[in-house]
Amino acid sequence: MTQQKEETIQRYRGWNEFHAREISSKLDFFSNGGRLFDVIFAQQFDRSFLEAMCSLASLIRLLAKTKTGANKLSSLLNHKRAMLYFVQPSTRTFISFLNACHILGIKTSEIRGTTTSSEVKGESPEDTIRTFASYVDLIIARHPEEGFAEKTAWVLNRTERPVSVVNGGSGPDQHPTQALLDIYTLERSFEHIGGLDGKKIAMVGDLKRGRTVRSLSYLMKNYQDVELYFVAPDVFRMKDDIKEFLKKHGIPFFETEDFNSVKPLVDAIYMTRIQKEYSEAPSQETDIYPEFHLTRDDLGLIQSHCIIMHPLPRRYEIEVEVDNDPRAVYWRQERNGMWIRAALIAYLFGVDETIRNEFR
Ligand code: CP
Repeated sequence: MTQQKEETIQRYRGWNEFHAREISSKLDFFSNGGRLFDVIFAQQFDRSFLEAMCSLASLIRLLAKTKTGANKLSSLLNHKRAMLYFVQPSTRTFISFLNACHILGIKTSEIRGTTTSSEVKGESPEDTIRTFASYVDLIIARHPEEGFAEKTAWVLNRTERPVSVVNGGSGPDQHPTQALLDIYTLERSFEHIGGLDGKKIAMVGDLKRGRTVRSLSYLMKNYQDVELYFVAPDVFRMKDDIKEFLKKHGIPFFETEDFNSVKPLVDAIYMTRIQKEYSEAPSQETDIYPEFHLTRDDLGLIQSHCIIMHPLPRRYEIEVEVDNDPRAVYWRQERNGMWIRAALIAYLFGVDETIRNEFR
């Protein structure tokens, strides 16, 4: 007989007040000695951090190419353990974090749904996470609720055994490590044409519920003269909080439903899927918006250096015939995720300088 899931809602005094604060006023709480301790929001990343992560990811990638280098990497953190708590479906984020841990020698445990943990018996998610902290040194969490990673880091940082929490995607809100790999992909792709500064980026699709485009938009404050083009059906327009953020930081953005007018203008097109999993009436919602799809016929309309990105998974928004065009970088983009997540974990455990020293 299948057990009915029980639910316990615990009251944490002070959490609601903390959660409601401006993100900029909370960042110190997730840092330790001037370094990030928890990775919760994209707003935690400044330009020097992003550059450090991109260069470290490239060094790890290079080192991992040889058996000697790979052995060195896997001896760095073989005394550490990580928990991957992924209770919302994931392919890339889960597998890339798992492999990033293994590249560095970290032993891993995983929970991939609440039906096999004591949450079925009513244990709260916060107590579940606190239990992981008894066994491991790092928790990577994906959860359908906005604010979940922030709350667990807030809870753990007030205990005597805080361990780092990394947000692997929190509802429709944020996906900071996806933003890291997106920046790495953009910087690598534009390496020979001046990097990301001065580039025009189109974000296309469900911008309202897409956490990847939200997190990536926050990072644009770190770059000079970037312009954003938000291309979405009216019902999926980018939310006001992001637009307010961009205005506050003087980042120009344009909103349109006319994808064709944007295609020849931009240096990067970031396609996204309709995020039906957040719909209140999924059976009544269509997930096919052909005017917001990219097809083989569009390849002649975009610039010769314009890259095509997608956080994946995709549905119909990019035709498979686009995949073999050299400007389609989404498969490289997902592989970049493994390297930059390894860089992030190396940084969190303080072995980033050891890796850099291999090349001095
Ligand atoms: N891009 C991304 O987060 O993919 P997954 O949902 O497969 O992890």
